[in-house]
Amino acid sequence: MEIGTGKSYAKIILLGEHAVVYGEPAIALPVKSVGLSARVTPQPDGRQTVTSSFFTGNLNAGQLTNFAGIAMLIRRLLIFFNAKNQGFHLTITSALPSERGMGSSAATAVAVVRAFYDAFQTSLSHDTLLNWAAVSEKALHGNPSGLDAATASAERPQWFVRGKAPRSIMMPRNGVLLIADTGVAGQTKIAVGAVADRLKQNPKMYRPLIKDIGDTVRQAALALAQDDIITLGQLFNRDQADLSALGVSSPDLDRLINVAIDNGAYGAKLTGSGMGGCMIALAASDQAVAITTALKAANAAKVWEYHFESK
Ligand code: PMV
Repeated sequence: MEIGTGKSYAKIILLGEHAVVYGEPAIALPVKSVGLSARVTPQPDGRQTVTSSFFTGNLNAGQLTNFAGIAMLIRRLLIFFNAKNQGFHLTITSALPSERGMGSSAATAVAVVRAFYDAFQTSLSHDTLLNWAAVSEKALHGNPSGLDAATASAERPQWFVRGKAPRSIMMPRNGVLLIADTGVAGQTKIAVGAVADRLKQNPKMYRPLIKDIGDTVRQAALALAQDDIITLGQLFNRDQADLSALGVSSPDLDRLINVAIDNGAYGAKLTGSGMGGCMIALAASDQAVAITTALKAANAAKVWEYHFESK
């Protein structure tokens, strides 16, 4: 084993979260320019230890914490490399806030896999990377669609359907995506479980919402192809209405979404699993300052600006 390094980025789901678990399409993008990356560096050492913002200590102890999924992934990687007892010290530096719908667990998993393949000087295909990331994502979330890992490891925005190879998709040529954090944690497993329960208890009421989210995403692909940011904004609002009816919005998310719309956004919605976490708003670039100021005044813990024209 050599010193290795692996990197990945935060992801933002534009449209299609939750329905993507049930086979509908989703559109998501890695947000590289806003400075939200995860970096993982393993180096040979006497024991098997980890330093990170969410867990620091011995790999064994990590199995009993919220680091358990990543700990399991590391263990399986070591077995794969025939290095079960290899000593190492792993440093994880991540600027991604956890449990905010930005795919922090998937980004960490992607960076861990890349780092160990680098440390064991082995080439890594994209398919293999996604299969590895699914190990910790399954342990953590139970039934992940794979969208988070596919986007955290992608170079370009993605059109994603569960079980199929992701495809690149065009983004608007101008405009801005404002990403605002409610400051409230939203746990993916709980939100995905809540939707699953509702679908089971009342399929007549909830199934059409999943289908409508799928239709919204398909229409969004057309709007993107026509560079029609105003229609895309309206589709954000339709998706948010469906997500809210599915029960995964929250008063904090609703407040920030309303503030963005009142201040001129074309559309706004939650992003990721919801029940806390982040919202996104789509707007003309010259509205960015006014909307950001309003979001901060409405208690957003943090606001990031992602300008499409500079990509
Ligand atoms: O909250 P995040 O960043 O883990 O996003 C979850 C996205 C879901 O569609 C709700 C679940 C999934 O597995 O796709």
